[in-house]
Amino acid sequence: MRIDILTLFPGMFAGPFKESIIGRAGSKGIVRIEIHDLRNFTRDRHRKADDRPYGGGPGMVMKPEPVFEAVEHVIGRTTSLLRDPQVKVILMSPQGKTFTQKKAEELIGKEHLVFICGHYEGIDERVGERLATDEISIGDYVLTGGELAAMVVVDAVVRLLPGVLGAKESAAEDSFSEELLDCPHYTRPEVYREMKVPEVLLSGNHEEIKKWRRQEALWKTFLKRPDLIEKAELTEKDRGNLRKFKEKQKNG
Ligand SMILES: C[S@@+](CC[C@H](N)C(=O)[O-])C[C@H]1O[C@@H](n2cnc3c(N)ncnc32)[C@H](O)[C@@H]1O
Repeated sequence: MRIDILTLFPGMFAGPFKESIIGRAGSKGIVRIEIHDLRNFTRDRHRKADDRPYGGGPGMVMKPEPVFEAVEHVIGRTTSLLRDPQVKVILMSPQGKTFTQKKAEELIGKEHLVFICGHYEGIDERVGERLATDEISIGDYVLTGGELAAMVVVDAVVRLLPGVLGAKESAAEDSFSEELLDCPHYTRPEVYREMKVPEVLLSGNHEEIKKWRRQEALWKTFLKRPDLIEKAELTEKDRGNLRKFKEKQKNG
């Protein structure tokens, strides 16, 4: 997969994309991430990428020309030819659709992702109207810029690419992959400050461990995110467990 990030603050990406799993995915050649300074696509000698808003008001607005030209540069075509389904031009914006695990799964099917990071009051509206194929928000709050938001989306997408995580199962059993939260995890020591690891995990009985994990994932979701249970694909056994949980909750 190829990822291009367009930003006024390229230095912000140095650490996160060089470290850990995302850094390794880059060195293994699974993903190629390039950061582009939008100022390199300005045409005046002051490299001006923002200007005052028409109609007045506080703050600055990012100009459309550097953004259009940067996208054309990384895609290698003019904007009228941009509608290749393998390419997504993603505008990071608090007004976009809220990012989810489902969206991350949809994006791993694409060959090329281009992220546009806004700053200040945001970006000239024509970028959202004519250039972006998607507008993504990472939640109902306002950040100073789209850089951290783009990092969140890139991280969630890249870890799903084949070969990035060590064991294939590690992503398959994560929270949200089946609309349930992940089960609890434990490691050594077996007893810590009198808190003991659940017996079943030490039993070596893989069938029982599997059953226990499913039940615990369901219990956690029931307690913390009951809204997810409605969308989850549940077995008869799960439904039976859910009835027991409700009974348990009713009786305190
Ligand atoms: C200060 S914000 C602009 C907010 C804009 N005036 C508004 O109220 O919708 C500057 C930039 O940060 C990014 N940003 C802020 N919050 C975000 C969020 N929740 N998700 C994604 N990007 C965000 C966007 O790229 C945005 O253009």
